[in-house]
Formats: sequence, structure tokens, C-alpha cells
Amino acid sequence: MQTLDPTANSNPQGTQPSFDRQDWLSGYRSQPQEFDYWIDQVEGEIPADLNGTLFRNGPGLLDIGGHPVRHPFDGDGMISAIAFRNGRAFYRNRYVKTEGYVAEQKADKPLFRGVFGTQKLGGWLANAFDLKLKNIANTNILYWGDRLLALWEAAHPHRLDPHTLDTQGLDNLDGLLAEGDAFSAHPRIDPDVNGQPRLVNFGVKAGLSSTLSLYEFDPQGTLVSHHSHTIPGFAFLHDFALTPRYAIFFQNPVSFNPIPFLLGMKGAAECLKFNPKQPTRILLVPRDGSTPITVDSDPCFVFHHANAYEQDGKVVIDSICYDRFPSVEDGNDYKTVNFDKVPPGQLRRFTVDLATQQATSRDLVTRSCEFPVMHPDLVGRSCRYLYLGVTHAPSGNAPLQGLLKLDLETGEEQIWSAASRGFGGEAVFVPRPNGSAEDDGWLLLLLYNAERQCSDLAIFDAQDITRGPIARLLLNHHVPYGLHGSFVPMDFGPQAA
Ligand code: CO
Repeated sequence: MQTLDPTANSNPQGTQPSFDRQDWLSGYRSQPQEFDYWIDQVEGEIPADLNGTLFRNGPGLLDIGGHPVRHPFDGDGMISAIAFRNGRAFYRNRYVKTEGYVAEQKADKPLFRGVFGTQKLGGWLANAFDLKLKNIANTNILYWGDRLLALWEAAHPHRLDPHTLDTQGLDNLDGLLAEGDAFSAHPRIDPDVNGQPRLVNFGVKAGLSSTLSLYEFDPQGTLVSHHSHTIPGFAFLHDFALTPRYAIFFQNPVSFNPIPFLLGMKGAAECLKFNPKQPTRILLVPRDGSTPITVDSDPCFVFHHANAYEQDGKVVIDSICYDRFPSVEDGNDYKTVNFDKVPPGQLRRFTVDLATQQATSRDLVTRSCEFPVMHPDLVGRSCRYLYLGVTHAPSGNAPLQGLLKLDLETGEEQIWSAASRGFGGEAVFVPRPNGSAEDDGWLLLLLYNAERQCSDLAIFDAQDITRGPIARLLLNHHVPYGLHGSFVPMDFGPQAA
């Protein structure tokens, strides 16, 4: 593996594929086992002042009883927790014991349809008009107000014990969520509302017109604000951005044709159609509950936002944009995806002038990127640094193998790559206790290491990622490619005997 030689990786160029497809696919093997252990294989040194718990969520099973899921997003949620304590680290993983997981593990075969096209056995006849979706709890994991919640955007969260990761059941948030209500997998934490952090999240009921609900919670988890709005048209909203005054959503120009879904031929997400003639609608939803502002922008597709802030009568939003819906082509399996046909994600800055209600945009990063993260204390404020998962090559689409630090002030990019045999994803930025500079902290990145067929947790000094990891924790097994996660300063490692 060439990953510890920064000079070889600091500025990846070249035209050869940066990865081997079998290597990449080997990170999509199911991980049916659950583990608890102190990580004893460590290259480099875990910083002694890095203390707390990293939580990650993602699909852990890529098959059910040997029947493969059609798309990894249909895989059952598996939580990993890595607790850091005085230079040591403890790993634990557990499945979210959802109703669907428990029933399917017992039956040893798929019993539910997946949103991304996984079907029950027996062809379309067995699937037609079965609209019962499985809450797979596989997208994000949040600790707030003494609750650890596994999130999946279309349903209620599952509550887990943060010490053991045992599933305690569905959580309706003290009765706030009614049957069928959604609670998104992309909450944001406003670092300062009257001196206190505030959790903000949304839920959407999409249809011919859509209903968007916005919730805000104080540090104890008590609801302090809740309002709902009707949005014209079908709204596929995965994430949002936050400023002190607004929750900001991008309504992608997609329509939903339910017929193939109803007939049991396709998953719901496979029935989305991108309309390149429709604008992308930027929705600024005032957090005080007043009427949303709608501003049209050029058509693009957005899953994730990096950050947003307000300045001089303008709202600035940095988002990962695709020129069209980045779906696997019709009838194709994710395993055989032709990366040349999938549009790259690009970091784009949108500026909305509140007086004229016009939006302009420009590209910030054109190398294919996803999963932007930043210093948590600057959410909703102008920040200087963003950290993104990127491809090894400067153009085209491919699996994410690198990490990019962007200086928004100078435009400077630092890049580190795990190619050819390492594969990345979303990093988490952890500020150094008592640090003062915005980039004084660490990036924690779970890498799949195809050489070992296992995963490594890489720790970077965020001030210079080109040095490569300052510590690499070698797990005893692999963690299938995951989605999102979070870090809390509390130590949820094993309790003293
Ligand atoms: Co997401």
C-alpha cells in the first residue's frame, strides 16, 4: 500500500484506473458478525488528547440468506462505535435490531421490498401492491439529549443504548412523531442559539405536493419549535443546510412515477426521473415559522450540503451537485456500474440575493467529491475549511479513495489518496480540546483496505492531511462501505469493572 508516502499521493494524476474493481467490490461483502475488542494493531500513535466516541452507520448486510440486495442502500443498518481513551481505542459493532432485520434473519430470506429495488423472492407478482417498506436504520447515527438514534430518512428513528449499542426499539420522540411520520437522517446542530447548541431536523412526506416539517430541540432533547409547510410538487429532500435564520432545502427537479413500484417491478427510488428542463428550487424556510422563500436555480441534483451562511443580504450555500440524478442505469446492478456513465459530484457555491431573490452559482471543486464535513462550531457561519471524500483522479467518476481539504479563502487544496487499494468515504472532523485554529483537530476516516480485506480507521492531523494518517488502527475485520456518522466527547467504551 502506498498510503504512507505523501509525495506519491499528494497530487494524484494519471490516466490508468486508480483501483481494481474486484478490490472495490470486496468492500461490499456482508459483515454478519458483531465484535467487541480493544484495537491492538496500531501504526503510528493515537493522540492522547483525542477522547470520545466515533459512531458510524451503514449497510452491514449486502445479502439476506445469500440473496443479494439490489443496492447497498437497501442493506440493514450496522453501527460501529470506536471509543478513544487516553491513546487507546475500543471497537464495537451491532446491528440495529429492526423489525425487518429480526424477521428476515429468522426466515433467512428477504421478506420486504427495499426502496432501492431489492424485491421479495417470487418475481413481480409477489411484490405488486406490497407497499410495506422496511425501516432499515442504515443512514446516520446521532447522539442528542441522552438518546442514541439510528436514522433512516423515511421513518422513525431506532433508539440504541450508547454503551452497548443494544436496540431499544423505535423512538417517536416523546410522541412527536405520529405513525408514518419521517425523521430525516441529516440533522444539523446549530452551535449557538442564545448560547446553547440546538438540534434541527426535518421530515418530509412526498407526493403530488409534499409536506415538510421542521423540528428544533434543546440540549435536553425537548422540542422547542415545530412547523410544517406544503411544498408544491414532489420533493425528494435528503439533506438541508442551516443558517441562524433559515433551514435551506434544494428541491431537485425529479418526478416520481409510482406505476412500476406499485406493480412490483421496481423499487421506489428507481422510479425517480430527472427533468433537465426544470429548475432546481432553493427553499429558504425561515426557522421562525414564517412563509418559505423559493428561488429557482439551474437544474442539478443534490444529496448533500456542506454548509451555508448569511452575509450582506445574501445566503451562501455550498453543496455537492450532480448534473443529473446519479442513478445506476436501468437494469444494471451496482456491482457492474460503469463509472464513466455516472456524473461526478462537484462542490458548488450558490449565492442567493435575498433582495432580488435571484441565485448565482460557481464551482469550487470539480474533482468528483462527496460527504463534505467541517468544524462543528461553525455550522451556519462562514467557515474557512471543508473536508471532502474525493476520487483519486482529477476528473471522471470512480469510488472515493481520497480526502481533500479545501481552503475557501485561498482556494488551496490539500489532497491525500489511499489508492490503489484503499477506499474511503465520509470523514468526521474532531476539534482538538482547547484548540484555537479552525483546522486544529483531527479527521477520522474509516478506510477499506483491500490488501488486508479489512478496514482501517485512519486519523489525520487536519492541519496537514498530505502527511497521511498520523495513526492507522487496523481492525480485525472489514466494515462494509458506510454512509454517515458523528463524534461525541463522551467515552462509551467498556465501563470500568
Ligand atoms: Co446522506
